[in-house]
Amino acid sequence: MSRQVRVAVIGAGIGAAHVEAYCANAALYQVAVVCDLDATRATKAAVSAGATVETSYDAVLHRDDIDLIDICLPPSLHAAAIKLALRAGRHVLCEKPLVGSLREVEQIRQLAAGAGRAVIPVYQYRYGNGLARLRRLIAAGVTGKPLVASIETHWNRLPTYYEVQWRGQKATELGGAIISHAIHAHDLLTFTLGPVRRVFARLATRVNPIETEDCASIALEMSSGALVTSSVTLGSAEELSRFRFCFADLTAESPGTPPYRPAEGEWCFIPRGSRQQADIDAALRGFVPRQEGFAGLVEALHAALIGATEWPLVLQDAYQSLELISAIYYSASTGTAVELPLPPDHPVRDGWTAWLA
Ligand SMILES: NC(=O)c1ccc[n+]([C@@H]2O[C@H](COP(=O)([O-])OP(=O)(O)OC[C@H]3O[C@@H](n4cnc5c(N)ncnc54)[C@H](O)[C@@H]3O)[C@@H](O)[C@H]2O)c1
Repeated sequence: MSRQVRVAVIGAGIGAAHVEAYCANAALYQVAVVCDLDATRATKAAVSAGATVETSYDAVLHRDDIDLIDICLPPSLHAAAIKLALRAGRHVLCEKPLVGSLREVEQIRQLAAGAGRAVIPVYQYRYGNGLARLRRLIAAGVTGKPLVASIETHWNRLPTYYEVQWRGQKATELGGAIISHAIHAHDLLTFTLGPVRRVFARLATRVNPIETEDCASIALEMSSGALVTSSVTLGSAEELSRFRFCFADLTAESPGTPPYRPAEGEWCFIPRGSRQQADIDAALRGFVPRQEGFAGLVEALHAALIGATEWPLVLQDAYQSLELISAIYYSASTGTAVELPLPPDHPVRDGWTAWLA
C-alpha cells in the first residue's frame, strides 16, 4: 500500500468528523470519496478534503483506487456494508456498534481472515492524553490494585434528536443508550481495568417516548475483583462523562467535560501521600501527548496499514464491547446477574435485540 492511504467515507453524519480527522493527517491520507444517499450532505463533508461525491455505495465498491472503506452508516446497515467491502478486497473501519450480534462478529472475523483484510472498530474515545497518563501509571505499577470505580454517562437528547428515523428504534438503532452512547464509557472501562466477570443491569425509558432505553443503572464486577457502578441517562440538564477510579495507591478522576471527550483534558491523580506523589511524577516524566479522538485513531491506524505496527484496534475489541452489551441487555431483561465470558451456547449470542425490554 502506498504511504498515502486512499479512503472512502460512507455516510456523512459523523462521517464528516472522520473526514476532518483524515484532513488533520493529510500526509497520511487522501479522502478520495464521500458517499451518502443525500448528495448535499456528502458534498458538504467532501469539500474541505477535495474528495469526490457519490450517492451509491455500489459505485464506490467498483472503484479500484480505494484502500480503506470507512463505514459511518446507521447501525443496522453495518454488517452488510462490511461484508461487501471485504468482498471487494478493502480494509474496513466501521463505526460503533460494529454489528448486531456476537455471531455476526464471528462471521465477519472469518470473512476478514479469508479476504486477508482488517476490520477495525471505531472506539476513538480511547485516544485521549488524560487516560493515556492513567494507563501509563497503571503500567508502571504506581496505582496499586483497583478497588472501585464509578462512571457517569449523563448526556442530553431532545425529541429533535429522534427525528432522524433510525434513532430510537430497536430494528435500526439496535438498542438505546447502552449501544449508542454508554458504549464508549464501557469500552474505556475495560480498556483501563480489564475484563468484566459479572454484570447486573436495570434499564428504563424515562426521557423520551422511544422504543429503546435511555436510562440505566449497572453494577459490574471486574475479573480483578474491582467493583464498578455505571449510571447512564440521556436526560441530564448538564452533560458530562465522568470516571472516578479508586486504586489502592491513588484515585484518578476525569474532568467530566467536555462530555464527548472524556479521555482528554486534565485528569486528576490524587496520591495517598508524598511517596505516591513522587512515584506519579516519576512515571509521568517524559510523557509525550499524542493526537486525540478520531485524529489519534486514524494516525495509529495508518501505521498499521503500512505494516509498521500492530492494528490499534481489532475485531476482538468489538467482540468484548458487544459481549458486555449483550450481557447488559440479557441481565436487564431476565433480572439476573450474567457471568462473562458468555458460553458458546448462550441465547443472547444471536443478538441482543430480542432481549430489549
Ligand atoms: N463514534 C462516535 O462518537 C459516534 C458519534 C455519532 C455516531 N456514531 C455512529 O455512526 C453511525 C452513523 O451515525 P450518524 O449520527 O452519523 O447518523 P446520521 O443519520 O446522521 O448519518 C448517517 C448517514 O448515512 C446515510 N446513509 C444511509 N443509508 C445509506 C446508504 N445505503 N448509502 C449511503 N449513505 C447512506 C444517511 O443519508 C445519513 O446521512 C452510527 O452507527 C452511530 O452509532 C458514532
